[in-house]
Amino acid sequence: MPRPSANDIATAALPRISHGRGVYLWDTDGKQYIDGSGGPAVFSVGHGDVRVNKAVAEQMGKVAYGYRYLFTADPLEEMSERICKATGLADMVYTTSGSEAVESAVKIALQYHFDKGDPARVKFIARKRSWHGNTMMATALSGFEDRQRAFAGALPVVGRVSAANAYRLPAGVSREGLVAHLAAELEAEIQRLGSETVAAFIFEPVVGAAGGALPAPEGYAKATAEVCRRHGVLVICDEVMCGSGRTGVWRASEEDGITADIITVAKSLSGGYLPLGAAVYTQEIADVMAAGHGGPLTGHTYTGHTACLAAGVAVQRIIEEEGLLARIRDKGPRWQADLRARLAHLPQVGDVRGRGFFIGVEVVADPETKIPFDASLGVNGRIRAEALKRGLICYPSGGHVDGAAGDTLILAPPFNASDAELDEIADKLVETLETVIAGVAGQ
Ligand SMILES: Cc1ncc(COP(=O)(O)O)c(C=O)c1O
Repeated sequence: MPRPSANDIATAALPRISHGRGVYLWDTDGKQYIDGSGGPAVFSVGHGDVRVNKAVAEQMGKVAYGYRYLFTADPLEEMSERICKATGLADMVYTTSGSEAVESAVKIALQYHFDKGDPARVKFIARKRSWHGNTMMATALSGFEDRQRAFAGALPVVGRVSAANAYRLPAGVSREGLVAHLAAELEAEIQRLGSETVAAFIFEPVVGAAGGALPAPEGYAKATAEVCRRHGVLVICDEVMCGSGRTGVWRASEEDGITADIITVAKSLSGGYLPLGAAVYTQEIADVMAAGHGGPLTGHTYTGHTACLAAGVAVQRIIEEEGLLARIRDKGPRWQADLRARLAHLPQVGDVRGRGFFIGVEVVADPETKIPFDASLGVNGRIRAEALKRGLICYPSGGHVDGAAGDTLILAPPFNASDAELDEIADKLVETLETVIAGVAGQ
């Protein structure tokens, strides 16, 4: 049987999946894994939940989906109501991935300006060390050299500003001065591009794969949003990885005190049961697009797929009924503090950060200088392999310092992981990092 192709994520010899229950997965050899990262921060209510499976089966038993131009449907209406209530936004375009949600957000921003009589606003600004997805525009927006290099010549040009990284400050900038520095940099980039030509600024409130669950410093979102407003530039928050409740609030940017013009969600929204994402936007944008073209000029055949929405509704009901966001708000900070304490004997653990059940660990060769391990050591790959050996699934990533070096890992367990399961994840992570660091320290 053909294997998935080898890349920075998959290795040549992957175990073969058998089944999953709750926070655990098993391969066909009977080996058990604890899912410490919800795969790629997807499995919000764990695996094999009979309530979700039943809701999907019931929907499939009636009809797989009602094409959106022909029918509305109960799951579509319930999910839309839930998203509007949770975000304070007005309407959305559904997708079947995060990349398509980002692509839709870009088209919505462009259409908004066009329909408003401002068609010159066609440029986008995004950050270094960010990941927005695998479609062409989403890849262009991303600041992730490894994943862009092969396509660079064909990608639309995007304005670029620094990552908001309080652990790795720009040269000559203090922690206290960081937010003002980054806001000024954004303003300068808007002006360089021509402020009347910029459509939107996109950022992840907590950076995922490209930054290792890295939240922006306090005040960053407000300061940059204020710059955007002054220049008529829309704010897009990419919450594909950090949103839909993962940080303990449904909309991650809520904690930053801003409401974006457009937010993108996917992953935890339907918890990995079936593919579902959305680009969600304000009443103002909805009204302008309705007046201009009758609605958004984007969507796919499977937009608003009924069975996918049935899965999403079942997941969202579980999150609400079991009070899982309150649990994350309560347990997340304590778990993060516990992880920090348990890793304190390893000086190469340079930073433990994140929000809620979205936690990043950064390992460095030298904690004083924060110099990363040499990329040739493949530390993040070693972490993945050592963790898997111990039956721990985590989400390591590399290259965030200079495109090649820099090693982080993300923990993003299901929202309903028990205290004992979170302890097990922490135990296995400590053993993994002890082994990997002992193998590379001093190299
Ligand atoms: C912040 C962010 N945006 C967009 C995407 C793309 O989502 P998908 O892989 O579902 O297309 C990802 C995927 O990891 C992501 O983390």
